[in-house]
Amino acid sequence: MEVIIEPTRKAVGIRGANIIADHVLRKPALVLGLATGSTPLIAYRELIRKHQEGGLDFSKLVTFNLDEYLGLPPTHPQSYAYFMEENLFRHINVHRQNIHVPSGLALDPHEFCGSYEADIKRAGGIDLQVLGIGRDGHIGFNEPGSSLGSRTRVKTLTKETIEDNARFFEAEQEVPRFAITMGVGTIREARKIILLATGPSKAEAIAAAVEGPVAASVTASVLQLHNDVMLIIDEEAAGKLKRRNYYQWIQENKYQVHDVISRQIRVRLGM
Ligand code: PGA
Repeated sequence: MEVIIEPTRKAVGIRGANIIADHVLRKPALVLGLATGSTPLIAYRELIRKHQEGGLDFSKLVTFNLDEYLGLPPTHPQSYAYFMEENLFRHINVHRQNIHVPSGLALDPHEFCGSYEADIKRAGGIDLQVLGIGRDGHIGFNEPGSSLGSRTRVKTLTKETIEDNARFFEAEQEVPRFAITMGVGTIREARKIILLATGPSKAEAIAAAVEGPVAASVTASVLQLHNDVMLIIDEEAAGKLKRRNYYQWIQENKYQVHDVISRQIRVRLGM
């Protein structure tokens, strides 16, 4: 796991957007996994800027969102389909038929979950997955206790998540209790994962995910088993990391490894 600590929320968003943009440039038909919530907003704004001002082309991009509330239509302002439309999709040139957000109105949600998995497979799997993290360490809506092998399914939200999300609804009773979410096992299959986190309320979850045991009680901890994960977090979210100095030391030395290798090559070649 690579842990990158940025000074501000804004820097986290910009670093996230730059990584996504690099991937789109290298592979225009990128299969991109997307997250909702307040954390990725700056990154999405930056991607919109890169499209509108820099001509970044999303015409071949394929997207899969992590989750959606069960029972909310895409026209509901608190649905994740609406969130994505307002905060990203309608501002860039991604094709409608390439966008996938779980349907909150599926008549047979269980069958729908199976077809969502099949759609991901048919697209060739997720190349790059963007994640946020809940205060309870969840990724997607994989609440504590979710099987680390779980697939896309209907999940009952914890009271804590319902409380956290009540700020977006008129009243707590209006927050849906169920969601469709990619499973932990689904997320783990993405080729590369970037997790963004900002603010002091995420510090405990980040420490548990990075330095705690791999456990279903903190579903983000499963990322320790993945071979290509980058955590991009701000100073506040890094506040409870014990090995924080080491992560910073790694970043400071990151490029020196190239110097060491090229010196070895020169010695070997007698240059
Ligand atoms: P947030 O949500 O970005 O709004 O904090 C993250 C999450 O719950 O996964």
